[in-house]
Amino acid sequence: MIRKCLFPVAGYGTRFLPATKAMPKEMLPLVNKPLVQYGVEEAVAAGMNNFSFVTGRGKRAIADHFDISYELETQIKGTGKEELLTSIRSLIDNNKFSFTRQNEMKGLGHAILSGQTLIGDEPFAVVLADDLCVVENGQDSVLAQMSKLYNQFRCSIVAIQEVPMDEVHKYGVIAGEPMKEGLFRVTDMVEKPPADKAPSNYAIIGRYILTPDIFDIIRDTEPGKNGEVQITDALLKQAKDGCVLAYKFKGRRFDCGSIDGFVEATNYVYENYYKKGQL
Ligand code: UTP
Repeated sequence: MIRKCLFPVAGYGTRFLPATKAMPKEMLPLVNKPLVQYGVEEAVAAGMNNFSFVTGRGKRAIADHFDISYELETQIKGTGKEELLTSIRSLIDNNKFSFTRQNEMKGLGHAILSGQTLIGDEPFAVVLADDLCVVENGQDSVLAQMSKLYNQFRCSIVAIQEVPMDEVHKYGVIAGEPMKEGLFRVTDMVEKPPADKAPSNYAIIGRYILTPDIFDIIRDTEPGKNGEVQITDALLKQAKDGCVLAYKFKGRRFDCGSIDGFVEATNYVYENYYKKGQL
């Protein structure tokens, strides 16, 4: 059973400047809830209860969000506004939140390695909170789908989706041998390839389950594309020496790290959750 979930949230979010000049990208709200809270709720729905954040300078708002605000709560106690804090208060009361810092922005692989001190020696999930993943009512959350697969196969898993060939350059892309419907054993992985060098159009999105041996592998991984330590490079090594699975998840993903995806997600959440009183 996967209990721990790591959120690398140290990135600068430059695509959202000036909004992200003094505020973390992960605190941008979809309607009235910050992106990072959707990620935590997805993980809770997968049975996880221990959340670790790799933050950076200017990201204190995330730690404050997952902490009690006594003044505010006292102020609105007994008013109609109290219930607006119910969802976050319940997360705070029922889960554990820890924080560490990535001092230098050396890439996603490096950010994950910085989380080792909080994760320790057990398998864990990774959520990039700027990917919002939604599922039909009653379906397993994307992390729950992956967690079940982990229980069956006991190896690292990346979530993938098919993207148009002219978009593969934005993603890590896999090649794999089909194992069963929607599941591949990874044989190759390339970070942000040009379309003519991409091994497929299966793009890795921001959901991973990683086995803890990944930390030593990352430590031995040289900086790759853009001079950053890429998790894709570490996962390829893990795939060659052992097993990494790629899973075409059931559900829909919005790229909230881009303006278009963020607006699309906002409209989706407004229509499907907020207007139906589910937010
Ligand atoms: P992105 O590529 O989306 O970068 O990182 P970014 O800085 O957040 O956004 P833009 O491109 O400047 O607008 C993917 C994820 O990896 C984390 C980011 O916080 C984001 O969740 N990350 C990336 C780190 O935590 N540390 C890094 O060194 C790099």
